[in-house]
Amino acid sequence: MWTNQHQTHPTKTTVPCGRMASAGVCLLLCVNLFLNVLIVLAGRDFYNILGVSRSANLNQIKKAYRRLAKELHPDKNPDDPDASQKFQDLGAAYEVLSDEEKRRKYDQCGEECLKKDGMMNGADPFASFFGDFGFFGGGSSNQQETPKGATIIMDLYVTLEELYSGNFVEITRNKPVMKPARGTRQCNCRQEMVTRHLGPGRFQMMQQTVCDECPNVKLVNEERTLEIEIEPGMVDGQETRFVAEGEPHLDGEPGDLILKINTMPHPVFERRGDDLYTNVTLSLQDALVGFSMDIEHLDGHKVQITRDKITWPGARIRKKGEGMPNYENNNLHGTLYITFDIEFPKTELSEQQREDIKRILNQNSNNKVYNGLRGF
Ligand SMILES: *[C@@H]1O[C@H](CO)[C@@H](O)[C@H](O)[C@H]1NC(C)=O
Repeated sequence: MWTNQHQTHPTKTTVPCGRMASAGVCLLLCVNLFLNVLIVLAGRDFYNILGVSRSANLNQIKKAYRRLAKELHPDKNPDDPDASQKFQDLGAAYEVLSDEEKRRKYDQCGEECLKKDGMMNGADPFASFFGDFGFFGGGSSNQQETPKGATIIMDLYVTLEELYSGNFVEITRNKPVMKPARGTRQCNCRQEMVTRHLGPGRFQMMQQTVCDECPNVKLVNEERTLEIEIEPGMVDGQETRFVAEGEPHLDGEPGDLILKINTMPHPVFERRGDDLYTNVTLSLQDALVGFSMDIEHLDGHKVQITRDKITWPGARIRKKGEGMPNYENNNLHGTLYITFDIEFPKTELSEQQREDIKRILNQNSNNKVYNGLRGF
């Protein structure tokens, strides 16, 4: 079972000195805070390690971690003797800053104090995170002997807003996990030729299924949270692979889970490549006398359109750089195309108004008759 839950950023505030606390306790706390600032200076600076500001939000922290983890992974820096230490520092920084409670504690009193409270477990946050970093499992294709569970491919429905700005989406999955169970089971079964001695000079050769005895296992459903980054500019069909998150295999390794990006339709914009398309219906009046309006873009910023010339139905204007960000280079954007149609007034015009309009527009009435199916 799958649920797809988009992240929110819960805010919690704590008041350090409650109504009950006496001034003395408050003073003590302040002294404490001061000492703690010194301790922060002594421990590692996790913000610095991740290269984010102290006010960075969770998405920025995740983004920084993901980028640096790719860059600093020891596999990619075999010549750097400090590579492993740098990677560990990064992991610790991420472990703390991505967790609301640990981060608050760290902001208050630094790394030493987190350690004292046993809040740093040093677990590798890398293990269950973000899926494919591009260098996991890549080299192990020679282990073809190990059977593998099925690979699951799932569509991940994302909004155009997410593809424009980027986001992290949490996926909760009920995953069958193997657990030890009582007894044994037959495993590694294979066909073997056996020779049976039936009598003097008589043998029989036959195929037989031979198995080993293995400790028994059972499949238990466990809830797992996976996190996938929607990177700006990703395109439909793009895949993120979570190694070993697919179907389990009793005698081998689990398969992979592949999530495929699938854009949900958007009420205002349509995407083609890196370009965006939208339609605007103008009043006849604005079409004739000009207008100025804002279109709210996918991240909320305003795109201003101003025209003082006449706008005819089907006219299209281009806004360079207001399309989607390019996946390879987020600083490059496609074009936004805006196509206009005109809404005519439905009111009746008086004799006088008709005369006025005729006088103003001064168009001659040589109306053209032409084939409506093909333009000649
Ligand atoms: C704009 O209008 C055209 C023609 O009606 C339509 O095909 C197209 O889907 C519209 N675009 C958007 C983004 O709604």
